[in-house]
Amino acid sequence: MKFRTLLMAASMLSVASVARADDIKEVQMLHWWTSGGEAAALNVLKQDLAKQGFTWKDVPVAGGGGGAAMTTLKALVAAGNPPTASQILGYYAMDYADAGKLGDITSLATKEGWDKAVPTALQKFTTHDGKWGAVPVNIHSVNWIWLNKAVMDKIGGTEPKSFDEFVALLGKAKAAGVIPLALGGQPWQEATMFDSIVASTGGIDFYKKAFVDLDETALKSDTMKKSFDNLAKLRDYLDPNYAGRDWNLATAMVIKGDALVQVMGDWAKGEFKAAKKEAGKDFLCYRFPGTDGVVLYNTDMFAMFDVAADRKAAQLALADATMSLSFQSAFNVVKGSVPARMDVPDTDFDLCGKKGIADVKKANASGNFVGSMAQNYAQPPAIATAYSDVVTKFLHGEIKTSDSAVAELVKSINAAK
Ligand code: BGC
Repeated sequence: MKFRTLLMAASMLSVASVARADDIKEVQMLHWWTSGGEAAALNVLKQDLAKQGFTWKDVPVAGGGGGAAMTTLKALVAAGNPPTASQILGYYAMDYADAGKLGDITSLATKEGWDKAVPTALQKFTTHDGKWGAVPVNIHSVNWIWLNKAVMDKIGGTEPKSFDEFVALLGKAKAAGVIPLALGGQPWQEATMFDSIVASTGGIDFYKKAFVDLDETALKSDTMKKSFDNLAKLRDYLDPNYAGRDWNLATAMVIKGDALVQVMGDWAKGEFKAAKKEAGKDFLCYRFPGTDGVVLYNTDMFAMFDVAADRKAAQLALADATMSLSFQSAFNVVKGSVPARMDVPDTDFDLCGKKGIADVKKANASGNFVGSMAQNYAQPPAIATAYSDVVTKFLHGEIKTSDSAVAELVKSINAAK
């Protein structure tokens, strides 16, 4: 038997052991994966489940970063009508677990040894009091830049190794008449970019002090001010229409060669893949300048809600399929992320994916695997939202100086605590 067949047989066995005659063979999934690359990745899962005889009830809520999806989810859960599972990030899952809204899939987790395969840092979010209530689908990271190779060649650009070199590269693009930086001016995208700027400006220990420990001295330090100054420098390289633009449209600008670069999590790579672009040939991926060796992660998880008894078998099948080695490879190749299991071979990944996998392993071993503040992996949603509000207000000129930005940051974070 082939490896994949063996894996499928094993997973069907475990599901069969809990299946009952009147089980509902449907998986309801709430998610915000509506772009081309995201939808292609989700299809991998739909097809895996279809093979096992489960139908798919799609509950898409468009809106990058998942803000709108989280509002819908909250309403469904409050009405006592949660989906089988929902895409979810970091502290959102912990809140549902604390409120007793998640199911318990620990027996499957124990049987399959997930605790040995998934980085310990992530298990803080997938478990509650030692019980598994969510499964990690992938590991994304936000500190990447994505560049159009032809534009890079045209302007004679090379990989920028520091923030200043990055600004110099943007300047070259501007001089050549290309939009230097493709940004979607939505709070979550701007904050996602600022995560990288902070890690680059202050280093990872500073990032941890500020965002993981919420150390007030770090939050109002000169280094944080400098981070805002650096953000302000990037303003000069945006096109006039950036406000409100969706992230995937910004990626499309780079894909088409209308812009040189986008600073975005590696879901951007899913768009390049969907457009049949090849890493190293059509596009380039580098860590955000000054953050090599660091992984600012955000993992998509499926939160497994405490659904009715006749929906639990389908839920287990979903969890099982999601955690299989073959799925973790196939899905993440398309999504742009890397597997959430450390035992998945990198064979099928392109050079950005191979780098991503190696980076996660290295960062995980060296303490440089740290949650993204913008993506709800460093702090609970109220604090993450306070953070992105300040970043947005600063970038759009409502907060005028870096001094006021740090003062606002401290004030808003304290109010959100
Ligand atoms: C999610 C990604 C998604 C991106 C854009 C992020 O918060 O983790 O899976 O592709 O938002 O929608």
